[in-house]
Amino acid sequence: MLDIAFAEFAVPSSGALALLLTEGEAASGAALAAVDAATDGAVSRALAAAEFKGKRGQTTTILAPGAGLSHVVAVGLGKSADLTVRYAEEAGGHVAVALARRPVAAVAATGLTPELTAAVALGAVLRAYRFDRYRTTEKPDDKPKLQRLTVLADTTSGMQERWAAERAVAEGVFLSRDLVSEPPNVLNPAEMAERCRKLESLGLKVEVLGPAEMTELGFGALMGVSQGSANEPRMVVMHWNGAPDVGGTRARPLAFVGKGVTFDTGGISIKPAGGMEDMKFDMAGAGTVVGLMAALAGRKAKVDAIGLVGLVENMPSGTAQRPGDVVTTYSGQTVEVINTDAEGRLVLADVLYYCQQKYDPRFMIDLATLTGAIIVGLGHEYAGMFSNDDTLATQLHAIGNSTGELVWRMPLSGNYDKGIKSDIADMKNVGGRPAGAITGAQFIQRFVNGKPWVHLDIAGMAWATKDSPVAPKGATAFGVRLLDRLVAAHYEG
Ligand code: BES
Ligand code: MN
Ligand code: ZN
Repeated sequence: MLDIAFAEFAVPSSGALALLLTEGEAASGAALAAVDAATDGAVSRALAAAEFKGKRGQTTTILAPGAGLSHVVAVGLGKSADLTVRYAEEAGGHVAVALARRPVAAVAATGLTPELTAAVALGAVLRAYRFDRYRTTEKPDDKPKLQRLTVLADTTSGMQERWAAERAVAEGVFLSRDLVSEPPNVLNPAEMAERCRKLESLGLKVEVLGPAEMTELGFGALMGVSQGSANEPRMVVMHWNGAPDVGGTRARPLAFVGKGVTFDTGGISIKPAGGMEDMKFDMAGAGTVVGLMAALAGRKAKVDAIGLVGLVENMPSGTAQRPGDVVTTYSGQTVEVINTDAEGRLVLADVLYYCQQKYDPRFMIDLATLTGAIIVGLGHEYAGMFSNDDTLATQLHAIGNSTGELVWRMPLSGNYDKGIKSDIADMKNVGGRPAGAITGAQFIQRFVNGKPWVHLDIAGMAWATKDSPVAPKGATAFGVRLLDRLVAAHYEG
């Protein structure tokens, strides 16, 4: 991870320096004035010549402006009245890109609150992520160089503590991105469970259930998905107990549940070959839950939370389940499996029901790359949010807007639910073509016993085919920051 340091602002006497400038103040920022004084106005002249206006995301690099500086990079913050954590993070991301070839660099964050200053650092760290475990022939010169970024602020007081918490969240994001990036031959259910176990070093309690235990419990839906695969399934329960003990009684935990299909071929209802390799990211919901639990533990969140992930591989084989099979779920309800490619909901059905039976949580939030239909509806801008609880939905929507991990609420209703009536079982696992994402959510809701619940369909958000300001293309870890902020803002203490 990119190393972050904080220091009080002074113009460095060498190296590369980034300046964050708001629109309209492009010629008057305190750091800019100081750099200008040191360079006889060269930086302001260059910015004027480059028509740098401080617009959000605008980036201009000036080479060797004098005073020993190798580069000055100006990054626009947009209008100061509009500046939020989200845009400060994005500016940090632009800084990381512009300075990627420099081993050490500094960024001037004068005039920003401590919260925004930390956001700049977080954005730079998140954008500098890279998954290069399987690159063996890349020339050192082609690799990104940035190792250490010093954030020059008005004051460093309290920044170390603030950064320690943000850094823990970044660690959670990176863990999640690593898991989702791993190829499916490496990251099978057993391997993912092993990586969850490693979180014990952060103080989490980790339980792993295998096929014998899940069969014994009656997880007919999850086991049905898994039965065509040579790789055994797992369910992992991660416990973080960080809430203060009030008179010996503990508040009920918050619960996060993730779909962890380590590879989704579709099963017997097999998917077409083109793009099937993408289905390694079908465990991203679980990846987010694991990253979130690491973040909560890493920053010692004052909350009790549990993370549950259902880990299976969906394969076609002589032992695979067939379209037409009827499975009995852990809840006792039966499901006619019409399409073996609608497997995520089958996995979640058992894990969600187990979660509420065993832990009676305050709420359950599940994350799943559940449907292609949500991508048709919302593209890659918003995750689909389904909920039986207006408070939670409102909180998540607002936090999405401030973190940039956007969620858009979709409807649930009895009329949609009718679409999954089966002629021979309690329900079937798919409806017709219309409203596919909603049908998936309706199915899952049948395994929620009235408890406050949110389902986030992250199929369009878990993987990016192009860079964004705070994430290189690839695994995004969508939801780690959203849910970490939800906990911090409303459920801690
Ligand atoms: N994992 C897929 C959904 C998906 C598609 C995620 C594209 C990310 C990108 C899921 O298991 C699936 O196959 N869903 C089916 C459901 C259908 C059979 C009702 C789909 O969306 O086609
Ligand atoms: Mn599928
Ligand atoms: Zn799937």
